[in-house]
Amino acid sequence: MNETILKKNKGKYSIENVPINDITEKFGTPSYVYSKKIILNNYLDFKNQFEGIDHLICFAVKSNPNIAILNLLAKNGAGFDIVSGGELQRVLAAKGDPKKVVFSGVGKSQEDIELAIEHNILTFNVESEAELYRIQNSAKKLNKKANISIRVNPDVDPKTHPYISTGLKDNKFGVDEQKAISMYKIAKTLDAINIKGIDCHIGSQITELKPFEDSIKKLLELIDHLESLNIKIEHIDVGGGIGIQYSKETPPSFYEYSKTVKNIIGNRNLKVIFEPGRVLIGKAGILLTEVEYVKNSSDKNFLIVNAAMNDLMRPALYQAFHEIINISQSNSDKKNYDVVGPVCETGDFLGKDRFMSAEEKNILAILDVGAYGMSMSSNYNSRPKVPEIIVDDNKCHLIKNRESFSDLINSEKLLP
Ligand code: LLP
Repeated sequence: MNETILKKNKGKYSIENVPINDITEKFGTPSYVYSKKIILNNYLDFKNQFEGIDHLICFAVKSNPNIAILNLLAKNGAGFDIVSGGELQRVLAAKGDPKKVVFSGVGKSQEDIELAIEHNILTFNVESEAELYRIQNSAKKLNKKANISIRVNPDVDPKTHPYISTGLKDNKFGVDEQKAISMYKIAKTLDAINIKGIDCHIGSQITELKPFEDSIKKLLELIDHLESLNIKIEHIDVGGGIGIQYSKETPPSFYEYSKTVKNIIGNRNLKVIFEPGRVLIGKAGILLTEVEYVKNSSDKNFLIVNAAMNDLMRPALYQAFHEIINISQSNSDKKNYDVVGPVCETGDFLGKDRFMSAEEKNILAILDVGAYGMSMSSNYNSRPKVPEIIVDDNKCHLIKNRESFSDLINSEKLLP
């Protein structure tokens, strides 16, 4: 879990057994590069913690939806947490098993619900009473039955950035415990609905165990109560949210996390579902970018690079920190730089106050961007999306082409 992606040998950096220079020469910059070994090791390490326990790891597709990555995980037994019909189509394109798919999200469209029912997904994580009825009606229309779990909002503070906390009572996600009970009672009466499980997801980049502990305990109490009402719950989905170290955070190890989950759940006859995203893929990816200009003024020094907020939105959106390393040789003096992109917004920065040495044409690596990097990128400022590459030992595989200008305007039309 703690393996670093960049290896340095005699002043030269590589990923697995491929020198970074080879990658930039072949694919140019900016580009996202992942290590297959780290992705797989993370997934298998996580999985091994739960050996002997009935469980399923449903990778959160939104964290990195590239079909090569989904396929790699699917081949190793992973299921998937999806939040749209588009993500389901990606899972199918990646040869993932729809019977291992859980479908979360507060605004599921009729169309997406029907697609999921047609593919017999493992469960809908239902987030409102209105959605429950919509699923019942869609299943009836298709002459099928739909599996459901209710997403409970346990009102637990995950102590993370407010934009990515989801389990507090004023967040839009899930329903409170009383509402969940009444929804299970309704679900029991609906003829096209199978009650399968119970679900929660309290937020992302959580670095303490207590919020997980508190929310799972609340779900177990609810399961007991439901049992007393003759409502049988087969699985508990504890969501994702485990944090990673971007800077000085001290997130729990897989061992510590699994020990906590196992201690609380004990020997109950329950399948446990996990929805990790960031913790499996975050540290497995970097963004390579080239210095276009070094701009010094009396107050401030800037490294203007060819990647921008449209390629990596986390710093601009959450003031997120990502370590930046100059992987080229530079003999210039070290200075405090803001690393910024070419996009016309003051918020377009990738790092602030980085004490480093750099020159034009140097290659910088922005670390820990495997999760919510490419997946949140956009074409803002008419910037084509960058390619994605996976390194596998001494080989590189292009898993997404760099977009071209015609890709950008292909779907647009002039007025007649
Ligand atoms: N399950 C559900 C229902 C979710 O909404 C999410 C993430 C996950 C699982 C996976 O969470 P993870 O294990 O990756 O923490 N864009 C933000 C993160 C947003 C997370 C949204 N939900 C960021 O860049 O930090």
